Amino acid sequence: MINTLDIEINKASESRLSQVDFDNLPFGKVFADHMLVAKYEDGAWSRASIQPYGDISLSPASSMIHYGQSIFEGLKAFKNENNDVLIFRPEENWKRMNASAIRMCMPEIPKDIFLEGLRQLIDLDRNWVPNNSESALYIRPFLFATDALLGVRPSDTYMFMIITAPVGPYYMKPLHLKIETEYTRAAMGGVGSAKAAGNYGAAMYPAMMAQKEGIDQLIWTDAKEHKYLEEAGTMNMMVVINDTLITPPLKSTILPGITRKSFLELTKEAGFKVEERSITADEVISAVGTGELKELFGVGTAATTAQVEKLTFEGKSYDLPSSEHRVISNQIGQKLLRIKKGIDPDTHEWNMTV
Ligand code: COI
Repeated sequence: MINTLDIEINKASESRLSQVDFDNLPFGKVFADHMLVAKYEDGAWSRASIQPYGDISLSPASSMIHYGQSIFEGLKAFKNENNDVLIFRPEENWKRMNASAIRMCMPEIPKDIFLEGLRQLIDLDRNWVPNNSESALYIRPFLFATDALLGVRPSDTYMFMIITAPVGPYYMKPLHLKIETEYTRAAMGGVGSAKAAGNYGAAMYPAMMAQKEGIDQLIWTDAKEHKYLEEAGTMNMMVVINDTLITPPLKSTILPGITRKSFLELTKEAGFKVEERSITADEVISAVGTGELKELFGVGTAATTAQVEKLTFEGKSYDLPSSEHRVISNQIGQKLLRIKKGIDPDTHEWNMTV
């Protein structure tokens, strides 16, 4: 048995930090100096190492490339006033990653490799965590199959890595979303609730078709009837009708968002009514018509709280109430951000301090 807490550190000879314009950070194009790597072979994890960020070499026959055994996570780190780094709910990401791993026939990642690896990586690159208000260090853990074999079966070898990227907002402005009723993201019994790479690749063509019509993203509906809202691929969906926050319940077609879970908890604590229930596109559109739809927004790690101000359904577009005066999304979205940045007390003990 290896000691999973013992991580080898090989530092970059020079930092690239001075080349980064922290006031103009694109999402996911700039990467910090180091990355974590751990290999799984012969039924066991080898000692993890932290290395300079850089290209990796793979066999062209790697089963991840051919058959898509590849999963990932997304989380964020912020700086508080004392320059401590706060990582939001990393244990939840570790649990979700292992749930995805099981669904994709991949080995689970030991808690130490995930959490201690993360802690040491972030500590080493702590100067990469932005401290301006709109930005964060986005953390991307991922696991993929590395067997050089064209036979269709689960790989025997894997690589787990964590890379990090200082990022600005994922969405720069309120969104125009379309409720998708032709294409499908996930069907019951499929892999929709796993953070599997293929879910994202499969969503690109329908999203691109919609983008040609000026739409930013899609709200997916159920595969069977295309009636019920599911999620938006980069975020879970929230609707406020009158004074109640409604969000689709978790099932095998919806990613169990950690931001979703945290947002629901804070909304209930603030005394608002919350319903986790199926909601149809017709109910949303009819509430737009009667003026009962007060808010529509998405929540996610990268997306944070993303307001939706325009909605397209069956060829018709609807303007939604201006996001400026929305009560729940603004109040709870701000509260969540203040907890993540250590401005408000972390009463739930959600942050891991580095
Ligand atoms: C996240 O919010 O972390 C995601 O994974 C969404 C997207 C950037 C793929």
